[in-house]
Amino acid sequence: MKIIAGNWKMNGSRDTLQNMALALKDVKTDNKVILCVPYTMLCVNAINFSLGAQDVSTHDKGAYTGEVSASMIAETGAKYVIVGHSERRQYHEETNSIVRQKASNALNAGLIPIICVGETMEEKQAGKTMAVIESGVRESVPNDAGKVIVAYEPRWAIGAGLTPTETEILGAHKLIADTLSSMGLSGTPILYGASVKASNAADIMSIQFVDGVLVGGASLKSDDFIPIITSVK
Ligand code: 13P
Repeated sequence: MKIIAGNWKMNGSRDTLQNMALALKDVKTDNKVILCVPYTMLCVNAINFSLGAQDVSTHDKGAYTGEVSASMIAETGAKYVIVGHSERRQYHEETNSIVRQKASNALNAGLIPIICVGETMEEKQAGKTMAVIESGVRESVPNDAGKVIVAYEPRWAIGAGLTPTETEILGAHKLIADTLSSMGLSGTPILYGASVKASNAADIMSIQFVDGVLVGGASLKSDDFIPIITSVK
């Protein structure tokens, strides 16, 4: 069983999600399918898949205009929330400690956080990939974490049609697995994300320590997303 998660980012509408839900209803799979969509779409009836949000406030409640708390997300019926996505880190200057606070809030509300880590091109070129990944996991995953998911998203490869080599993906995922295990969190699912599509999904998910994928662009249309779901058993 693999986890196939989609991240719609700021795309789609309730209509497109309804259509996706209809298409997913007939898909025969043992894989776990999750769609992380904008807050406004979280009320759609999800059969055969789970819904998630894409961010959560560091606060529980109060005068924080525009923010959405973990308990508010949980109230919609959503089960997951992405935290620390590359685009949040880049455009909203989210640090590992902010991401950890968000993950804690999610856990306290009964949500499963999908905690993203990954290196920028600058960090990759400076030979810092492994250090960034390890500190990302150590500092972003709460110490007392219950059930979480970690996603490795090499930031230079997102939306770029670029993919790391198999050896690079294996190395990153092994490091994440070892780091989680040293934190008492062995068995935590580790997803790979960045330019996943039907043509590379099965190969990527056959790599050791890859428990599933986090898909951006190719999760928006059922014709692209369903072949990824059915590409592995
Ligand atoms: P793409 O699949 O479009 O590269 O996006 C990956 C991503 O950011 C998923 O969270």
